Amino acid sequence: MKSQEYSPCTTPAWQQLQRCANAPRINILDQLKTDSQRVDDFSITCDELFLDFSKNSVDREIWGQLLALAEQSPLLAHRHAMFSGAPINTSENRAVLHTALRDNGSEPAGESAPERAAVVQSQLSHMALFSQKIRTGQWLGHTGKAITDIINIGIGGSDLGPKLACQALSEYAQPNLNVYFIANVDGAEILTTLAKLDPERTLIVVASKTFTTQETLLNSATAIAWFDREMGLADAQKSPHFVALTANPANALAYGIDEKRILEFADWVGGRYSLWSSIGLSIAISIGHENFQDMLLGARKMDAHFQTAPLAQNMPVALALLGIWYSNFMNLQTHAVIPYCERLQLLPAYLQQLDMESNGKATTLYGDPVDYTTGPIIWGQTGTNGQHAFFQLLHQGTRCVPIDFIAAVKDPLSDPQHHRVLLGNMLAQGSALMAGQAAPDGEPHRYYPGNKPSNTLLMDRLSPQNFGALIALYEHKVFVQGSIWNINSFDQWGVELGKKMANQLLSNTASRPIMDASTEALFKHLVKPQQTDGR
Ligand code: F6P
Repeated sequence: MKSQEYSPCTTPAWQQLQRCANAPRINILDQLKTDSQRVDDFSITCDELFLDFSKNSVDREIWGQLLALAEQSPLLAHRHAMFSGAPINTSENRAVLHTALRDNGSEPAGESAPERAAVVQSQLSHMALFSQKIRTGQWLGHTGKAITDIINIGIGGSDLGPKLACQALSEYAQPNLNVYFIANVDGAEILTTLAKLDPERTLIVVASKTFTTQETLLNSATAIAWFDREMGLADAQKSPHFVALTANPANALAYGIDEKRILEFADWVGGRYSLWSSIGLSIAISIGHENFQDMLLGARKMDAHFQTAPLAQNMPVALALLGIWYSNFMNLQTHAVIPYCERLQLLPAYLQQLDMESNGKATTLYGDPVDYTTGPIIWGQTGTNGQHAFFQLLHQGTRCVPIDFIAAVKDPLSDPQHHRVLLGNMLAQGSALMAGQAAPDGEPHRYYPGNKPSNTLLMDRLSPQNFGALIALYEHKVFVQGSIWNINSFDQWGVELGKKMANQLLSNTASRPIMDASTEALFKHLVKPQQTDGR
């Protein structure tokens, strides 16, 4: 079926799902009691990742119809189109090939694939060289001292992925190297970080796909001024203290970064899919190139699973279809991600960009307004911390929030007793949310309605491979949902208007366009001269 002719709502499966949604809601616990095969059939293994999705508000009929929806949608054709390099990012006429960054050149698809694979391999070797030089103390600053502190300056996809990976894989980090991340244009952030560091031993990694991003360029300018002030190094961007990671080398060159210190990647790598590219330099510096390669390998295994596993046993497809059931049929508009692992504390923020920047769209691929809901609101934080914050609402509030619980079975950085308590809490929460509890006589406040759905995703340990697989799993989940919703998951026009208006506001000229009355009043409030105490 051509996408032009397709709307998910007109498929037979969607109609059937609508009928199921009008029937009384599934009791998950009853399903588990009456269907002895449910736990086996509603679980999927992919290498060292195990997904249990038996605690969801679906019975076999709904699950069957969700799988039928996937088949009746353009998903399979779209998946083929993505992996073979077709320009599926239609509004920017670009291929979407972050998977090519991790396919090891093994099965390149499409006409230009061999050349593409060669370019990817050369970019990877370039990264290996840079990261090894830094890790072995051979990368020297202007005064001949080895680099010990690295600041990645970037925002959005040029920050979140590398920052998450460095934290998640801190078990593998080289002890004598410190990697910092500066994203926000809030000056307090960069100034307090710089104040702790020795400029002679500091390397600035300017990470920006476009090399035009306001926040990144201003933070970078502040770092350039710091080198000048602290060690008398003018134009530090031209020195070995600056490296650029970009898909726009011309802009980095014009900025003054030495050609030899520009690591490129292709424009078919979306910003929020870029941690596998040169944007991952800080990861390779922190955990070493071999571990970085292992991360790519884990993602590659998930790519292969996504391409070959039958739909009913396909992990990204399962997560996506369950999300569609909740969002489009049960009208549940938020989705919580709760890792029971402190090193994954940035995962919810990372997934917010991945999911909400990809699928927060209301126009179909062919320009029509959608008449169904699309991307959910993603939120969350680590357990057990969340248990002492928002879990009250999850258990007894008026809303129902589907949850992804995520944990590592083993954690060499932890202590066996701590880890037992951590994982015991996760299992207890999933079970309590589903099973609920009747209120004792006269104590209605102790009523737990239960029947709250969750997925549980276990990985053997938080290794580079499993981390790579985990991120690729969510990338493909987002892709499957976008395919079924018939939207372009790979552009982000929604963020442009605010950027443009900020520039207009900041232009500070008499010809500045007048904003709405509310914003004008706030603007005047911000720019009015500060009154002193003696007024
Ligand atoms: O917020 C919009 C966005 O374009 C993201 O998609 C991207 O990750 C981020 O800005 C940073 O862009 P760049 O890497 O070009 O600096």
